[in-house]
Amino acid sequence: MSVAASVITIDGPAASGKSSIARLVAQRLGRTYVNTGNMYRAMTWAVLQAGVDPKNADAVRAAAADVVIESPVVEGKIQICISGRTLTDAELNSDLVNRAVSLIASVGEVRDRLVADQRALAATGPLVMEGRDIGSVVFPDSPHKIYIDASEEVRASRRGAQGLTDQIAERDRMDKERKNSPLVIPAGAIVIDNSHITLEEAVDQVIAALQLT
Ligand code: DC
Repeated sequence: MSVAASVITIDGPAASGKSSIARLVAQRLGRTYVNTGNMYRAMTWAVLQAGVDPKNADAVRAAAADVVIESPVVEGKIQICISGRTLTDAELNSDLVNRAVSLIASVGEVRDRLVADQRALAATGPLVMEGRDIGSVVFPDSPHKIYIDASEEVRASRRGAQGLTDQIAERDRMDKERKNSPLVIPAGAIVIDNSHITLEEAVDQVIAALQLT
């Protein structure tokens, strides 16, 4: 089995439900779950810690080159460590990181480095990997590609806070319009819209669509 064949790719926009779906699909199939958004979030956290303006791409490039980022597999999912310290969910999902992450993720050198790490993870065993460019760029040869979508209203209400609709729409715009690896529906991906179905139903639909037997 080729490396790409061992990776189930799950892409989709912000707050589409793809992380919850991907985590449960991985659990049901006994695969390691990799949330690549957390890798971009960790890099963003580290760049902000260094006091760098996220809009200054040259300064971001320089700061990112100094960041030691590791992603060991622990109990079926990856942990993200910066200079040996595991980042908490609160750090990865802080408001400051939310606001800056699409800028950091648009820098080609940052992407090249994290894509190399993501490809290397495939050597650790069968994965479910989710993000924005997993089926299009990281593992374009995977025969198991899913794209998860949901309406903007549903995505904003799932994030469960007021004022987030604009922030999510802005992140989507940046993720879709950027030059480097924009969010697209990958060639060969099966699209599942989970606006009006439950999480369990979405997981069932993904597993049925993959026809893994
Ligand atoms: O999935 P998420 O919302 O946690 O992702 C955070 C940001 O990281 C998202 O706005 C775009 C970026 N990202 C990316 O560019 N490529 C990926 N494979 C995963 C995330």
